[in-house]
Amino acid sequence: MSKRPLVVLCGPMGSGKSAVGRRLATLLEVAVLDTDTAVEERAGRSIATIFAEQGEAEFRELEHAAVFEALHGHDGVVSLGGGAVVHPGTRAELAAFREAGGIVVFLDVSSRYAMLRVGHDPARPLLHVGGRNPREHWEHLMAQRRPVYTEVSSHVLRTDRRTPGALARDIVTWVERA
Ligand code: S3P
Repeated sequence: MSKRPLVVLCGPMGSGKSAVGRRLATLLEVAVLDTDTAVEERAGRSIATIFAEQGEAEFRELEHAAVFEALHGHDGVVSLGGGAVVHPGTRAELAAFREAGGIVVFLDVSSRYAMLRVGHDPARPLLHVGGRNPREHWEHLMAQRRPVYTEVSSHVLRTDRRTPGALARDIVTWVERA
């Protein structure tokens, strides 16, 4: 394993990582690797099932392994699950990637726009626990994680009211300059 990604996308659920990642990969003519998909393929079960049967801690370990493999074995675009940055090992990996000149983009979004994208998605277990509504869960997680997204990223893009294509074109200019 000695490849490294052209771009890593991070940010909360509903920030557009998957859609932007696909458009960006098309523009750069590379493949996109989504760590949620990698975890599901490796585990042979959905993220919702992993959360329900094994719990979040186990999911985070599977996710960390998927991120490690992506950062060292994929030379296209990598889209991280929204909570991947909570794992200290993943933060350390991202810091090393950035120090070596890697581009990590934080896709920032308001809760309003995030909810339009994922507010009703039952496949996102962290939005559907306890008594709170999905938007409250999302805002709570985002308040905790915003400093971490900021810490691990080299660039920030606000995605409200912008299309995946326009966002991907901004990122291409950063890749061309790097
Ligand atoms: C999570 C985000 C999800 C997925 C899992 C947990 C989180 O990924 O990894 O449901 O903790 O924010 P997306 O950000 O791709 O929805």
